[in-house]
Amino acid sequence: MAPRGYRDAGRRWYYVLHPRPVYVLAAEAGGRVNFMAASWVMPFSEEPPRIVAALDKEALTTRLIADSGVFTVNVYTVEERDFIYTAGTVSGREVDKAAALGVLFERDTVTGAPRIKQPRPIAVIEARLHRLAADLAEDVHLAVADVVAAYADEELFNPAYGWELRRTRIAMHAAGRAFTTNDGLYTARRLIQPRR
Ligand SMILES: Cc1cc2nc3c(=O)[nH]c(=O)nc-3n(C[C@H](O)[C@H](O)[C@H](O)COP(=O)(O)O)c2cc1C
Repeated sequence: MAPRGYRDAGRRWYYVLHPRPVYVLAAEAGGRVNFMAASWVMPFSEEPPRIVAALDKEALTTRLIADSGVFTVNVYTVEERDFIYTAGTVSGREVDKAAALGVLFERDTVTGAPRIKQPRPIAVIEARLHRLAADLAEDVHLAVADVVAAYADEELFNPAYGWELRRTRIAMHAAGRAFTTNDGLYTARRLIQPRR
């Protein structure tokens, strides 16, 4: 029972944890290149640098990632929401999304995995699978992957503090067709001092 003033979040309980940045994962294997939207992706460890992602067992991109062992995480601004939404609602099993959308790839990556050239991402992470666990959920694999390279738009990203938040509108997914983005910069104060 939800406490007074709250409602049960329901079947789509995970929307409680949205909005989330949404990325486009790209991979290639056996002569097939493909990409899909993914928002259940996050940094996992600094030592070694790793990310984790929940990958739909049915997605073509997941199969290409499993077969090749490498993929790229392409970061976009909210202006690319139609591309992201389409990448996330049409499967490469049915449609050649790259051809239909005019998506271009580059293979000048450390891993050889395709990164997206057009539409131009504002950042790319090159990842190499460390482990793909099929037995933790019915619907998704848990992918743990090493970050082999990471690069971001030189105008929008500062290695010291990350995105220029007043100028960078990172694509975030709320629910269904609803996307949003970051709004301004809010500096936090520590409310209690750590013990020396
Ligand atoms: C906003 C959004 C976020 C998504 N996040 C994920 C995700 O984190 N993991 C995943 O496996 N699929 C996610 N999907 C679904 C895949 O993108 C979708 O199944 C896609 O059609 C798979 O394409 P493919 O079969 O061509 O690889 C998301 C879809 C949308 C629209």
